[in-house]
Amino acid sequence: MCFSKDIWQYIRKDDFMTEEKNVDLYLSPNQIYCGDSSILLQQIEPNSISLSVWSPPYHVGKEYEADQSYEEWTELLKEVIKHHFKILKPGAFLVINIDDILAFPDVNMPRIQAPNTSKLRSPVTKEQILEVLKQNPGLNRYQLAEIFNCSEQTIDRRLNGNNIRGGKYSVQTRVKLVGGIIESFAYEAGLYLYDRRIWVKDPAWANSQWHSNSYRSVSEFEYLYFFWKPGETVIDRNRLTKEEWSTWGSRGVWYIPSVRKNDDHVAKFPLELPKRLIRLLTSENDIVLDCFVGSGTTAVAAIETNRKYIGIDKEPKYVELSKKNIQLALLQQSQQQMEF
Ligand SMILES: C[S@@+](CC[C@H](N)C(=O)[O-])C[C@H]1O[C@@H](n2cnc3c(N)ncnc32)[C@H](O)[C@@H]1O
Repeated sequence: MCFSKDIWQYIRKDDFMTEEKNVDLYLSPNQIYCGDSSILLQQIEPNSISLSVWSPPYHVGKEYEADQSYEEWTELLKEVIKHHFKILKPGAFLVINIDDILAFPDVNMPRIQAPNTSKLRSPVTKEQILEVLKQNPGLNRYQLAEIFNCSEQTIDRRLNGNNIRGGKYSVQTRVKLVGGIIESFAYEAGLYLYDRRIWVKDPAWANSQWHSNSYRSVSEFEYLYFFWKPGETVIDRNRLTKEEWSTWGSRGVWYIPSVRKNDDHVAKFPLELPKRLIRLLTSENDIVLDCFVGSGTTAVAAIETNRKYIGIDKEPKYVELSKKNIQLALLQQSQQQMEF
């Protein structure tokens, strides 16, 4: 069964928000739940989560966010972050993995005038066309194309710096920074930005539009934002080896290859990512939460590091996928224990 927003309209908030009365309604550790995180997080036991680590929708049009407006997306992030204050243990962390929006449509943005000089096939110049137009002001681009023995697109590109086939009427896109939005939602919720790191992944050449006719760089890094709930934080230097502290524990840039095979989920992060965070920020048997659990990567990382997990996803197919991956991880773990 998948909990949607609808079911909760029949349950009074007081029926599940009081700690003493409704312990049975709390989500149990080592389970994956299907539903909207902004609702289900309210059912997690207060002060119980040692680390929450997740990668939300990035507002880039993936199937699970296809109908979501920018406002709805920010509202989801705001709600989800807000509910973390109550459920995190004092001194614990929420780590959000996210990217900026690299192609954010902006109707107010002027068209980028970008004739690509390296791709000029016809030697005709803007000045030559303007000279002919001065003498024959009524000529349209088709007639000009005939005169110069080139295409009407070339005429248009030379005169206006754009391509009449290439989305002349499409909205321009710019970069939208996301860190500041998240920081302010967290701050409003009582969580403080404690650290930020960069995850360097594989360059996404295949689905990048940047390498042709543009100075924009290919997408090859994302952010990790560490938010802290005030309270006593355990700083345990024994959690990592000396070598691990110097190569990644204390480092601001993490080099971890992306997941190459995205055939069962479109936006998985690599297992190594939550695993490092779990090892750095929690102890054995602590509860780790991922409220956008997708294929279950964080839950698998928790199992492999002897922590408990709670996972939430709104898509039933991803809940099933998570459960399958968890079964595999548990099987592997028991096989390893038998061999040992
Ligand atoms: C970027 S993916 C996370 C992938 C995950 N880290 C992994 O390695 O598989 C985001 C996930 O959030 C889920 N999601 C989107 N909106 C949600 C919501 N309101 N509540 C719960 N899950 C949601 C999507 O179905 C998707 O699986």
